Amino acid sequence: MAKNAIVSEELAKKFATEKDTPYRRWVANEGLDIISAHYIPDLNTVELKPWARRGGRGVYINHEASRTSNDCYVCEIPPGAELAPQRQLYEEMIYVLDGTGSCTVWNDSGHKVTFEWGKGSLFAIPLNAWHQFFNGSGQKPARFVAVTNSPGIINLYEDLDFVFNTAHDFKSRFNGEPDYFANRGEQKGLLLDTNFVADAINLPLISAKERGAGGGHIRFNLAKGSMNCHISEFPIETYKKGHAHGPGAHVIIMKGEGYSLMWPEGEEPRRYDWKEGAMIVPPNMWFHQHFNTGTTPSRYLAFKHEVVSVRNAQGVPKAWISRRLGGDQIDYADESPVVRRLFTDELAKKGLKPKMDDAYDFEQQELARQAEMVTAQ
Ligand SMILES: [Fe+2]
Repeated sequence: MAKNAIVSEELAKKFATEKDTPYRRWVANEGLDIISAHYIPDLNTVELKPWARRGGRGVYINHEASRTSNDCYVCEIPPGAELAPQRQLYEEMIYVLDGTGSCTVWNDSGHKVTFEWGKGSLFAIPLNAWHQFFNGSGQKPARFVAVTNSPGIINLYEDLDFVFNTAHDFKSRFNGEPDYFANRGEQKGLLLDTNFVADAINLPLISAKERGAGGGHIRFNLAKGSMNCHISEFPIETYKKGHAHGPGAHVIIMKGEGYSLMWPEGEEPRRYDWKEGAMIVPPNMWFHQHFNTGTTPSRYLAFKHEVVSVRNAQGVPKAWISRRLGGDQIDYADESPVVRRLFTDELAKKGLKPKMDDAYDFEQQELARQAEMVTAQ
């Protein structure tokens, strides 16, 4: 049986007041719910409530796994409407789920920049910059999902006037550059240095075989923030390597069809089916692994916030390093036979077959190289 660490009501009651935080009280005062789940089947249809202060509708998603590091919310802007202007002393990354519109960003120095977004756009709000969203359609609502680091900030200051009403321009983050939100960027290794991607669903990626199955990868550090995000894509009839890392990753399916397995060390994998618009939030150090069972490449966006040390001494994420070397990635060669069998069975239902031989072969060469390195040390 899965262990979920649930204890008696009596013990839980002793900690009940500690579960309440300034952040949770703030969301409640906004009139919104917090969905405490690490799997949302469809962000496009998740239920929203009127958000009087902002002028749209919204819901917060804040699983215990990321409760004090970062959070997530979904917001809908009604047809022909706009959200209220806002500034905030926390960072926010945004992915547009549906619709079209524009956003105006400005600071106290009087610099103002406006850019247009549509379904698949990816960007971030510069720290403490004023911003206002407009729906570009008079007929259709627009919906976006955002990940912020507000829980830590609101819990730290416990002063909403300070968090939302401090007059200070962080000029190194945003200084009114007219091309700040231009749809272009400079590639630096795996990192694309940009503040705006107009169509992240079709953005060309870079080959990254280290994560398995010939997938493409690209990383972002939007609006010079401390949070980061990345996109991964993997071809039909393939799956990625399982890995684990700290809390706070919000994995949003941009296209494709498949499922993910997630499990805490030593337990049986649990299955979460997905398609475009689904989101999974792997809890702290749970292994997770993504499988493409559809007929198109699958692509996801992961919004992240590194709150615990998850890199080695060279700065490489441990989720990219084999467990054989002390990292947190499970090599295909070491995965449970159940994982491979389930994938084969799922594909067979659609008349498909795993196309993993190249990935397995590439890994065998890597493992041989690693073994030589370890012997030479
Ligand atoms: Fe991950």
